[in-house]
Amino acid sequence: MLGQRQIHNLALIGFMGTGKSSVGRLVADTLHFTFLDTDHVIEARAGRTICEIFQQQGEAEFRDLEQRIVAELARRKKTVISTGGGLPVNEANLASLKTHALVVCLWASPEKIFERVHDHSHRPLLNEPEPLEKIRRLLVERGPYYRQADVLMNTEFRPLREVAGQVIHQFRLAQGR
Ligand code: S3P
Repeated sequence: MLGQRQIHNLALIGFMGTGKSSVGRLVADTLHFTFLDTDHVIEARAGRTICEIFQQQGEAEFRDLEQRIVAELARRKKTVISTGGGLPVNEANLASLKTHALVVCLWASPEKIFERVHDHSHRPLLNEPEPLEKIRRLLVERGPYYRQADVLMNTEFRPLREVAGQVIHQFRLAQGR
């Protein structure tokens, strides 16, 4: 399957707090690729934060913006793409990423995710009284989408630098190098 695909880019998917942005930056630096974070592109274009977009326009509008950006990514080369945690739930997004990128999903347990994100307030979906419960529920709902990645990688017991090394290894394997 991978053999017929043109793997120009690397896409990191996975739940909030699994390290997509940190790992993505390390990988991009090592490979001399451009780093792109879909949330940052959305914020820059909208001139608003993700929280403001959720509050003022709603989640559905945010998901539309996400899908539009994913469609544009097909033209890119040598780019490490870090995606928002809910992006692969739209199957068109995952299908589109797979046409040009190796898709790697970073994974962690709900408890570890909670530990990593609990003192941040920029994630509208977790700004609620029982964030750990919400993380558990969303992980169950999204599991089937995350598992469609080409590679699943547990980030829980490893430093991010080691995760980045494994991602690069998988990317080189996929490119036949
Ligand atoms: C979301 C994850 C966030 C951001 C938005 C929605 C989600 O991105 O896209 O708050 O639905 O899981 P990160 O995964 O980069 O935090």
